[in-house]
Amino acid sequence: MRISLDEAAARLKQGEVVAIPTETVYGLAADASNDSALQQIFTIKQRPADHPLIVHIRDINQVQHWVTAFPELAVKLAEAFWPGAFTLVLPAQHHVSRVVRGGESTIALRVPNHPLTLELLKLSGLSVAAPSANLFTQLSPTTADHVEAGLGNAIPVLDGGACRVGIESTIVHVFTDERNEVHWQLLRPGMISEAAVTRVAGKPQHQRGIVADNRPDLTPAPKVPGQHALHYSPRTPLRLFEDQAELMREATVCMQQTFKCAALLIDTEITPSLGLYTFRCIALSGQPEQAAEQLYGALHQLDDLKCDRLLVALPPDTPEWAAVRDRLSRAGHR
Ligand code: TXA
Ligand code: MG
Repeated sequence: MRISLDEAAARLKQGEVVAIPTETVYGLAADASNDSALQQIFTIKQRPADHPLIVHIRDINQVQHWVTAFPELAVKLAEAFWPGAFTLVLPAQHHVSRVVRGGESTIALRVPNHPLTLELLKLSGLSVAAPSANLFTQLSPTTADHVEAGLGNAIPVLDGGACRVGIESTIVHVFTDERNEVHWQLLRPGMISEAAVTRVAGKPQHQRGIVADNRPDLTPAPKVPGQHALHYSPRTPLRLFEDQAELMREATVCMQQTFKCAALLIDTEITPSLGLYTFRCIALSGQPEQAAEQLYGALHQLDDLKCDRLLVALPPDTPEWAAVRDRLSRAGHR
């Protein structure tokens, strides 16, 4: 059910859940200070309670309300990447709901870069918690149609068009160690690359097990609640291939055994022909940014074919493809 901007703001203020666009993926939003509104997100998504949510704020000035510390390094990152596909995890104020923190002592914050969503945050005066607007473990939605296909037509959706970035935000944890030194860790790769974060924040001095001056490593292991291996999955069983030629051989074998299969390829101009057999495939762009934008839409389309198997070619194992490879690897993990 499509709703207007005014209705979306009114519903959020009444403690209801609304699907909203962002530049990354569509989110299932609720007032981040209203526990019963937040609970509905978990119920609708069938999401475990210990998976924390990202709080979407309208600008950097809102950060202090949520955190006990906003170190200079985190300020620099926020200034460099907000509004944008970038989430900061920082120590949470005591008043922050346990529901939104998923029981963690930290809170995840992001200023989304979507004009309609920023307008909604201003109009409602709220900060909204929003995980991706799909059932737990399923494919993330990048259009309003995807949201309705996954969660049903009863879900109110603010339609902001197709998401430009196409995959979830980069998540960075900024924390202070026992010596009062500030560090950062990448918790989830995204289209704002680790190299881009390093250009702003310097090298992540903290690497687990390795401490520059041989001090024992007392900082906690990176904790990434809610990052299941089985995330972002289509319903169709999926197999990943490093080598496109091997994928094509497997496709031929599937066809000969009358398995119905389809493929996701990368940077291929021609539709591969497999003799007599018809074989549906989609080729993503050879540019990482464009491929990310196309990724979930392509997986949704291939999944809708209800094949016996999806064969997926992985992009090269290079830094610029890290985020796309991460999502495909999780989708293919069974
Ligand atoms: O692009 C995005 O980030 C999208 C759009 C809607 O903004 N949102 C999104 O939310 O991807 P979700 O729920 O699918 O992912 C939230 C993830 C959690 O699974 C967890 O890995 C991390 O963010 N997270 C959230 N709060 C955290 C915290 N306090 N500490 C560590 N990780 C946290
Ligand atoms: Mg998600």
